[in-house]
Amino acid sequence: MIERLRIGVLISGRGSNMAALIAAAEAADYPARIAVAISNVAGAGGLELARAAGVAAEVVPSRGVAREAFEAALNARLAAHRVGLVCLAGFMRVLSPAFVARWEGRMLNIHPSLLPAFPGLDTHARALAAGVGEHGCTVHFVSAKVDAGPIVAQAAVPVLAGDTAETLAARVLAQEHRLYPQVVESFARGELRIGAATGGTP
Ligand code: GRF
Repeated sequence: MIERLRIGVLISGRGSNMAALIAAAEAADYPARIAVAISNVAGAGGLELARAAGVAAEVVPSRGVAREAFEAALNARLAAHRVGLVCLAGFMRVLSPAFVARWEGRMLNIHPSLLPAFPGLDTHARALAAGVGEHGCTVHFVSAKVDAGPIVAQAAVPVLAGDTAETLAARVLAQEHRLYPQVVESFARGELRIGAATGGTP
């Protein structure tokens, strides 16, 4: 039997997208498995979720650590777990161009907006302030420029009258939990290549 694609999920907080990936990978026919969840923040809630699901959960601290040393430690742990795809899921640390190049075409991120609209933070409040009728989430390959890599897939939700940033976030999050496992499945089946989604040469 061919070994399933080994994924390393990088988190900084509650880890609900990581949990969605773990849950999807519990299906026998899912072509990937979560080899390790790594947080740069020691107290991240997602670490407990991972452990409870029987997934290796590790901390690679970033605070007060030089970026090069932090990323070298991260790479060492990803290598130790023989990771073939890195999934950023609420990972709040910007990665260096060198790290991004090392994982080019093998590192995905999920972002809570319909990119290229609203890169960065506070996307739901900004979408409400802008008065958009549609909002959503995006899975994209990670590039050196934050929230700007090749888009792989998006899911849209309506913005409803009376929405707050919280109600809108919850509607988007439900789509994130559906979309990310789908995209990872496509990647693991070899159906996704950097460039394909943007019309470039695969
Ligand atoms: C999600 O909205 C994700 O799109 C963004 O950060 C949030 C992380 O949530 N990048 P969680 O930690 O996966 O629950």
